[in-house]
Amino acid sequence: MASQESIIDKNNTHKKTPYKNITGKHGSTSKLFFADCLIGMNNNLEDNSIDVVVTSPPYNTGINYGTNKDNLPKKEYLFWLKQVGIEIKRVLKNNGSFFLNIGNKPTDQWIAWDVGFALRENFVLQNVFHWVKSIAISKEDVRNYPNMIGDISVGHFKPICSNRFVNDYHEYIFHFTKEGNTMIDKLSIGVPYQDKTNIKRWKSTNKQDRRDRGNTWFILYNTIKSRNDRPHPASFPTKLPEKCIKLHGLRDDLVVMHPFMGIGSTAIASSKLGIFFVGFDALLPNSLFSDCRNIHYTTFF
Ligand SMILES: C[S@@+](CC[C@H](N)C(=O)[O-])C[C@H]1O[C@@H](n2cnc3c(N)ncnc32)[C@H](O)[C@@H]1O
Repeated sequence: MASQESIIDKNNTHKKTPYKNITGKHGSTSKLFFADCLIGMNNNLEDNSIDVVVTSPPYNTGINYGTNKDNLPKKEYLFWLKQVGIEIKRVLKNNGSFFLNIGNKPTDQWIAWDVGFALRENFVLQNVFHWVKSIAISKEDVRNYPNMIGDISVGHFKPICSNRFVNDYHEYIFHFTKEGNTMIDKLSIGVPYQDKTNIKRWKSTNKQDRRDRGNTWFILYNTIKSRNDRPHPASFPTKLPEKCIKLHGLRDDLVVMHPFMGIGSTAIASSKLGIFFVGFDALLPNSLFSDCRNIHYTTFF
């Protein structure tokens, strides 16, 4: 993570050359830059050029990203993310969407909202989504729901060993926009009605068997058997950026950006959807995660 001092790259070392260009579905391209995100965005992106930003920043929870410190004093961390927000605002189109995924930590249950507040001056918070990673539903609680034959307990999570804190099964996805009036395509990620009589009964359905999914998104992590299988210490599943991009509204000429792209989950989602992606990560491409990046790209494209 950049400290306040390194926000300005005095030697302009991060040139306008992606370390990797990848061709995806329908000829869409992904440009991956090895760069600090502030410098990378500043050096490479025009004003009002990006339709959708889907990102999760370093959470400042002391994760070892290889080259970056992830334990800044909180005030400094929030100040830095505010600068990142200002740069995102510059490059985002006026009707663009900025999805920011962030979770809390047991000892600081405010951190996600503190980050939200740090961005409040520059964006309108248009929607708040809850990324649910695990959930337990007892048959007893839902009673005679069709298809529900027993108790359900699904999802993967990192257990918290503590007498004070429960396991944390969710994270936020803040949907920021410039004015709060960005049109979205709710039904693109909609769900079928459970009770099909609603389709006829409600005029607003337009006779379609599809309703708004709402703001709770159950998205499963890939199953991993050992720590060594984990490609990145803090990546999100590709279904997360995929949902965000579709919700914003898919178009062939869409440009998606992730300033902290990690192993490129958002690049993979963009490529699958056949749209253009540009991403930055301060981690050296030849360090720990680059192999995983290669594996992912060859697997998914
Ligand atoms: C929470 S992870 C994002 C993971 C990503 N969403 C994925 O699914 O792979 C944060 C990433 O930010 C990167 N990072 C940290 N400081 C950075 C900076 N100043 N500029 C760009 N990337 C940075 C880290 O190397 C890490 O890969």
